[in-house]
Amino acid sequence: MQIGTTEHKELFCRSFIDSHEVYEPRDLPWPELDEASLAILRSIPVWSMALQVEVNAGATLESFAQSQTDSLIVQALRLQGYEEDRHGRMLATLIERYGLDGKAEPAAPYGGRQAFIDFGYNECLDSFVGFGIFRIARQVHFLPDALISLFTRVMYEEARHIVFFVNWITYERCVRGYGAPPLQVIPTAIGYLRALKKTVGRAGSANTSDKGMAAAGDIFSDLTLQKFLQACLDENTGFMSTFDPRLLRPRVVPTLARFVLDAANAIDRARATVRSFARA
Ligand SMILES: [Fe+2]
Ligand SMILES: [Fe+2]
Repeated sequence: MQIGTTEHKELFCRSFIDSHEVYEPRDLPWPELDEASLAILRSIPVWSMALQVEVNAGATLESFAQSQTDSLIVQALRLQGYEEDRHGRMLATLIERYGLDGKAEPAAPYGGRQAFIDFGYNECLDSFVGFGIFRIARQVHFLPDALISLFTRVMYEEARHIVFFVNWITYERCVRGYGAPPLQVIPTAIGYLRALKKTVGRAGSANTSDKGMAAAGDIFSDLTLQKFLQACLDENTGFMSTFDPRLLRPRVVPTLARFVLDAANAIDRARATVRSFARA
């Protein structure tokens, strides 16, 4: 199968649509939590921001879907918009059930092609980081497994979204006549730089200075950059292995993470060698 063809479009749209799972957040088996888990959840300062991201995402997808003419792409975009709205309902249920501090404004009237592209690159970056956080949270039992496991479906949906996005944007560029890899480098780099700027801006606005966050910090106290990047890469590999091998996968963020991880490991090895020589 050649990338950028009708066959490619049908594959990435159909596999996205056919892998949609039916569930409703309110019907999931939300566990009872003890006070320690509730304190950690209540101290996490991102609920309003996360809820707002999902609410805006649903509106961005719906607005972009309305501008498209290909019925299969429209169907896939609408389905992603539905899933983003459902992520919003997932968070709203979590917030309500456990008495967390989080609320969202109605979605900003923000749509069109550039909004969808910005959103897609942001998802590629944020999902990769989210995969790592999710894997480590599971490993260190940050919260009860019964709660963490409810969010596996959300992580999987984000993996489906970013695979859909990278296939769609490459297909779209091919249709527009600039699908050759060298012609994609600059718009892809710009897309990721814009995403990075937005993600860093959001992270900087989070308030992480209360007691519950200190408790959460204790759980993650021996987390290093290497461990975190390895977790992101491992979880990403696990999710990506579930997709049809003919589909494109997001490559930029995992490749950069692998590069940084290899460099950090090489520096550690060199330091260990210098120390052992110094002792000898
Ligand atoms: Fe989402
Ligand atoms: Fe998403």
